[in-house]
This record gives sequence, C-alpha cells and structure tokens, in this order.
Amino acid sequence: MTITHISAECYPVAKVGGLADVVGALPKYQNSENVSSLVIMPFYDNKFTQEHEFYSVHSDEILFGGTLVAFEVLTLKQKSLDFDIYFVDIPEFLFKNYVYSHDDTERFIAFQIAVLDWMTSWEYQPDIIHCHDHHTGLIPFMLQESYRYDAFRKIPNIITIHNAQYQGWFSHIKVGLIPPFNFNHVGLLDWGGTINPLAAAIKCAWRVTTVSPSYMEELKLAANGLESLLSAESDKCIGILNGIDTEVWNPETDHYIVKNYNVKTVKQGAEANKKYLCETFDLDFDKPLFAFIGRLVDEKGSDLFPEVFKQALENNNLNILLLGSGNPFVEDQLKKLKNDYIGTYNAFIGYDEKLSHIIYAGADFLLMPSRVEPCGLNQMYALRYGTIPIVRSIGGLKDTVIDISKENGFGICHNNVTVLEITNAINRGVALYNKPSEYKKTRSYIMGIDHSWHVSAQEYLNLYNSIN
Ligand code: ADP
Ligand code: GLC
Repeated sequence: MTITHISAECYPVAKVGGLADVVGALPKYQNSENVSSLVIMPFYDNKFTQEHEFYSVHSDEILFGGTLVAFEVLTLKQKSLDFDIYFVDIPEFLFKNYVYSHDDTERFIAFQIAVLDWMTSWEYQPDIIHCHDHHTGLIPFMLQESYRYDAFRKIPNIITIHNAQYQGWFSHIKVGLIPPFNFNHVGLLDWGGTINPLAAAIKCAWRVTTVSPSYMEELKLAANGLESLLSAESDKCIGILNGIDTEVWNPETDHYIVKNYNVKTVKQGAEANKKYLCETFDLDFDKPLFAFIGRLVDEKGSDLFPEVFKQALENNNLNILLLGSGNPFVEDQLKKLKNDYIGTYNAFIGYDEKLSHIIYAGADFLLMPSRVEPCGLNQMYALRYGTIPIVRSIGGLKDTVIDISKENGFGICHNNVTVLEITNAINRGVALYNKPSEYKKTRSYIMGIDHSWHVSAQEYLNLYNSIN
C-alpha cells in the first residue's frame, strides 16, 4: 500500500506545533514491508532548507486564477529522514521564512494545485491520499470535483483534523483560484457564506479523523461552527490518538539534553537537567519546577497565566519556567512578572527546540491547562521524561492522563480553566513533590507508559484498508 501525506508542516523540516511532530513521525512508523508512506510539503526558506541539498524531480506551471505560475518539486540529495519527502517549490508563494502568515489563502491553494498537477504525471497513483488540516482541505474537494483531476476520483482520501479552530476561511470572490469544477457543486466549498476548506474536506473526504477520540466527541458539541456538519458526517468520522516518536523523544539518547538517563538513572539525569535550567534561568533548585511549553493562545489557557503564576508564586515554595510565544499582551505581562519573582520565575519568549527538550527532562511538573486540546503531545513527552503532567481534562489530555487520586492514576487533573482550579492543581503538585517516595514512584511509573506510534499507526492502516 502506498500512502501520500500532504501537510504544511513536518518535523524536522518545518515546525510550528504538534502537526509537524505527527507528520514527521507517522509515515516512519507506517513504512514497513508492505507499506510505503511519503510526505509532500511546501519548500520554505528556513534553517533546514538552507542546510540541506536538494534536486529537482519535476518542474511545470500551474494555472492560478488565469496566471501561469512556475513550480518545481524537489527532494533531498541525501536521504536523511526515515521516509521519502518531496517539497513543492513555488518561490513567490512558499519560499518564505515563515510557515503561516496573512496571505495563506493564495499560498496554500497554489501548493495544493501544484501537488495534484504533479501527481497527474505519476505513473502509479497512491492507494491513499492523507491530508492534514485546512491547508490541504481543498484536496478532497478537488479530487472529487475538479475536471482537471478526473483520473483521481477513485483515490481514497482522508482528512485529519489536528485543530478545528482554524478552518482556512476565504471569500467566494477567490473561487476562481480553484481549478474549474461543476459549479452546481460550489455548495460543497461553502459553510456559513464563505469558502471553508476544512468544511469542504469534511464533506468530500472519504474519512475524517481527529487526533484523539475525546476530541472527536467534543467537536460534535463545539467545533467553531462545524458542530452540525461533524454530527451529520459522524458515520465517516473517527478519533485516533496521536503517538510520539520514541526515537526523537527518548531521554536515554536525546542529544539536546544536558545528561541522558533512563528509568533507573532518572534521579541523577533529571537533576542534572534541572540544575542547568536553574542556573540558566536563575531558579531555585531546591523547589519543585513547574513548566509550560507552547503557544501563548487562549486555547492553551495562557491568558490566565499571569494571574495564576502570581498566586502560585506568592507562597515562595515553587519555581515556574515558561517557554512560548503568541499573544503579545500575554507575552508582555509574562515578561514584566520576571521583576516581581526574581529567583523563582522566568520566561523565555520565543521558540527553542533544544530548550524544550531540556525542560521536559529537567522540570518536575508540566502545566497544560488547555481550554481546547485536540491531542496534545507535550504531556506524552513529559511522561516519557519523568515529568508529571498537570492537565485540564479535555480532548487528548483526558485520553492520556489519569488523576493520581484514581486507580492507576499518575497525573494531576482539573476540570475547568479558572485561576482557582489551576492554582489548586499546582498546589497539589507541590504537595506531591513534598512526599518524596510517592513522587519518585510516580515518576518511574510514568516513564514506562507506552505512547509510541505503533498502536495508532496500525489504527490508521486499518482505516485505510477499510476504504481501499
Ligand atoms: P500544538 O500543536 O497545539 O501547539 P502540541 O502539544 O500538539 O500542541 O505540540 C506542540 C509541539 O510544539 C511540541 O513538540 C512542543 O514541544 C513544541 N513547542 C511548542 N512551543 C514551543 C516553543 N516555544 N519552543 C519549542 N518547542 C515548542
Ligand atoms: C494541533 C493540536 C494539538 C495536537 C497537534 C498534533 O496543533 O492543537 O493538540 O497534538 O495538532 O495532532
């Protein structure tokens, strides 16, 4: 079976969030004797593309709203990933030093057309086309409706919704950018009076997946306007929990962290990483370290952080370290807070892959008070590195973290995203840290929880087989 993944992000090429981690891992775990999985993504101007060499496998022009636009398809000269990867190079649209920006409509329509145009030159068509998020959401529609891709009509295709908050809306004025199709079916593109690529994908894809079972259920009640559509299409919808790449995320071999360790050496290993963080960020090694890593957006509950951190730090019995960027107002408040809690609080506003790994290794607790969390990978990385997750029970967090007060529990869970509930959860963490034997037992236990991709990759294969 051959599977073609199409995505805007893929680790280690270009990463904004968890989408990259998933697309950079799933194909690798899918590849086997009988399965060949590849990725197609845009060619951006970033560190990865600057540091690697590529060669061209195809060049042509797309017809984009009446204008011819040249594109090339590149691949790596030296195969450095565990799957084949192809890059669509459209200099004027895609070769930028960012993944997402204000002009994404044009950029990603051009990308999707180039992908399908290129595929028309393939000798064999893939058995499955697997699209990820709204940036590739027009593909299921074009496969079904565009005259140009008539030959593709029978290719089974899937859309995975990593986050339904973002849907890629654009005005009907731009409909002419999409290759000609039977205009009687224009309604397939529409949701609420605008073109909605995610909605179009939900309508046209053969199957719709979300990245955790709970999120699939939650979407039927709250999906940023798509609730009724998802309920109506529920027969073809399924939630499959993400896995993690246990080769990239392995405290025993992780080359980013200060000292490697396993479950037997976690005390010394985690402590060495914590020591580094405390020295680098002027924190108190003797107090528990609570960390947050992620995008500073309302979905992650980050608007409450300034107040939560103030209240939690008042008792002077813990440290907080934050790594993230996003809402400028929140960023500003989090920076200002540094002056009030010198020695127990710090924030690195920005993106730093290496630092994130050291934090998973060195922190004692990881905070994830998300309002919405389709899956969440951070809590699974934290578990593997022996860092206890403190999560709001929602979406994938609900599916992966059991409160320590329950049978087989190991994390700290709260139900609502309020300052009070988050600070209470942090205080429960402090209490747990102050019971060393229970804390150590929990740490060892969580390091053994298996969230590798093996199980979920098989679930995807079962799904592909059901439509192939
Ligand atoms: P989302 O995709 O919603 O942002 P996930 O939990 O699925 O959330 O994945 C987030 C990924 O991005 C993780 O690999 C996390 O470590 C990484 N990440 C998020 N913010 C940063 C940052 N500021 N620096 C480094 N890595 C980050
Ligand atoms: C999205 C979600 C996140 C999920 C990730 C990977 O970015 O916000 O919860 O883990 O995609 O599927």
